[in-house]
Amino acid sequence: MSMREQWGTRAGFILAAVGSAIGLGNIWRFPATAFENGGGAFFIPYLFALLTAGIPLLIMEFTIGHKYRGSAPLSYARMNPKSEWIGWWMVLVAFVISTYYAVIIGWAISYSIFSFNLQWGQDTETFLFQDFLQAADPGQVGGLVPGILIPLIIVWAVTLGVIYRGVKKGIEFANRIFIPTLCIIFIIIVIRAVTLPGAAQGLQAFFEPDFTAIMNGDVWVAAYGQIFFSLSIAFAIMITYSSYLPKTSDITNNAFITGFSNSSFELLAGIGIFGALGFMATQSGVPVEDVAADGIGLAFVVIPQIINQFPVLSGLFGFLFFASLTLAGLSSLISITETYVKGLSEKLNLSRGKAVLFGGGPAALISLLYATRGGINFLDAADYFINQFGVALLGLVEVITIAWFMRRLGVLQDHANGISDIRVGGLWKLCLGLITPIVLGYMMFDLFRQNLL
Ligand code: PFF
Ligand code: NA
Repeated sequence: MSMREQWGTRAGFILAAVGSAIGLGNIWRFPATAFENGGGAFFIPYLFALLTAGIPLLIMEFTIGHKYRGSAPLSYARMNPKSEWIGWWMVLVAFVISTYYAVIIGWAISYSIFSFNLQWGQDTETFLFQDFLQAADPGQVGGLVPGILIPLIIVWAVTLGVIYRGVKKGIEFANRIFIPTLCIIFIIIVIRAVTLPGAAQGLQAFFEPDFTAIMNGDVWVAAYGQIFFSLSIAFAIMITYSSYLPKTSDITNNAFITGFSNSSFELLAGIGIFGALGFMATQSGVPVEDVAADGIGLAFVVIPQIINQFPVLSGLFGFLFFASLTLAGLSSLISITETYVKGLSEKLNLSRGKAVLFGGGPAALISLLYATRGGINFLDAADYFINQFGVALLGLVEVITIAWFMRRLGVLQDHANGISDIRVGGLWKLCLGLITPIVLGYMMFDLFRQNLL
């Protein structure tokens, strides 16, 4: 057995964990989620979710990976062979996510190039669905769309190339470049956004608290959902990344740094997006809520419209926005893909290169499905299913198994406290053993009620 690969430095690990956390969830999911769920008042359930579930679970996953020194399936198998399937379930969810996450990054690459001559024109919605995705006519399904295909190949070449080079020379190296670059670009964009005319109006709409929201169960569900997705929890990622830490590393502190960096970036994104939306609302003389959007609609329809109206250097700012989406997305995609590449390589005793071929290869091939005419429908369906059922259910199974069936919290607590300055105790166990399962259980119940009843 050769030595387990390791991060070169602690900063390298933190950059990689933060790189996994910061992604599309921060840029296009958080701002609209906060806005629709109480605005300024959303920060109360959001902070509560961060402190009672987000950071406690990060500490738990970091500790599992560090103590059992394996990707999710191997770590679970070492805790108890009967629980190995949980790791594989996580790996499977990660695999599915990676197939469509890659496609969206490909779009972002295309749009960063379209920015230079504002190629999307005035009707950005028609441009996206008809010209670019060629998905308008439902009869016209099938056939690869070259405009989507080529950037997608680039995305997979970069991702699999980085993973092939390994933990230190590949993943750590890439994140050392991507994450600082991303932060600089993003700060430039946010400064530009909040200095646009009308930005104040957008910010006011964003921060205006609706305190009645706090009494609404859906708002709490939204807060927990945001925290889980945003911190890449229950996707096997954080377990895999922490398994490459050296024998001593302050795990608890790492978890706090990762959690707060991700939330800071999220807040910054909210400010930038709503500053820009305020500008757009002022230009078109409508209230901010009429232009607010999320997801694909925000990034590929509304943002191009806003860019069109920029007073100066519109092409450059368009490029910077889509470049930041690309970098944020790539660092997350690398983390998702590494979890199943490593899982496979450990299970079948494969070299890194072979595992990249047999794990990453199929993912890349499946993602071609979304690069076909009408492929966006598959993408929507996969994303919906994963986010609604994969995440909450998997998180619930994870905490219940560890806290109740296997009763491992005490062992994990001792392990984390043995190497960390910040000590975790009864409160941490209460969050994981009781508060988080109750909230996730309620989330599942709520989902089934809404979807099946
Ligand atoms: N945490 C990422 C984000 O906020 O966009 C999303 C993500 C990363 C989801 C990795 C899933 C994943 F496996
Ligand atoms: Na995130």
